[in-house]
Amino acid sequence: MEEDFWHDRWQNNQIGFHETKPNPILIQHFHKLDLKDQSRIFVPLCGKTLDIQWLLSQGYRVVGVELSDIAIKQLFDGLGLVPEIKQTEAFKHYQAKNIDIFVGNFFDLTSSILGRVDAIYDRAALVALPEDMRKKYTKHLIEITHKAPYLLLTYSYDQSLTNGPPFSVDEQMVQNYYSAHYSINFLDEIPVPNGLRGQFPSTQSVWILKP
Ligand SMILES: C[S@@+](CC[C@H](N)C(=O)[O-])C[C@H]1O[C@@H](n2cnc3c(N)ncnc32)[C@H](O)[C@@H]1O
Repeated sequence: MEEDFWHDRWQNNQIGFHETKPNPILIQHFHKLDLKDQSRIFVPLCGKTLDIQWLLSQGYRVVGVELSDIAIKQLFDGLGLVPEIKQTEAFKHYQAKNIDIFVGNFFDLTSSILGRVDAIYDRAALVALPEDMRKKYTKHLIEITHKAPYLLLTYSYDQSLTNGPPFSVDEQMVQNYYSAHYSINFLDEIPVPNGLRGQFPSTQSVWILKP
């Protein structure tokens, strides 16, 4: 997926991936990461997800990265926060109390730009990317977060019936990307009501990865 693909989606408001309330899987399972209050949660490819609002409401700090400035303006409007904005070489850095968002390309993030990460929350991020990019994404994610504990949501469906995003990421792929670095715990599998795009049978899987 090239950058223009996502910029066009935001420009044209084609954001079917955006959920209108915090994700119930996040709410049900996040505590299983056993994090301390004020832990700093990395939300890669964050869009304007309301999951950030939920994480903040639970007393966590949040750091995100997102290509689209449109998304992040709408995110802060939705949060009712006025950010301080700084332009750095690779990123536009939006900052407010307990939240940092870097607008730019995830692959340009370094661990020093990102700062401390106590956990990762990945909904519609890994699965947003095609296979060749997913390998790079997972390697980079592990590097810049120093293998932070990780709540991961994936979709699984017959990829020959329709194309992503979201792409199908099955158990074998999760093992291939992460097993050298994490202990992988499968938590749950939930059928997608009416299937993906209202027609393709699909399940959502929930994983906790611990170093
Ligand atoms: C499928 S959406 C999911 C957004 C969010 N996680 C959610 O649950 O609503 C994927 C997002 O990743 C962003 N994105 C895609 N590639 C990116 C990259 N290389 N760096 C930063 N953001 C990226 C897109 O602009 C889009 O907002």
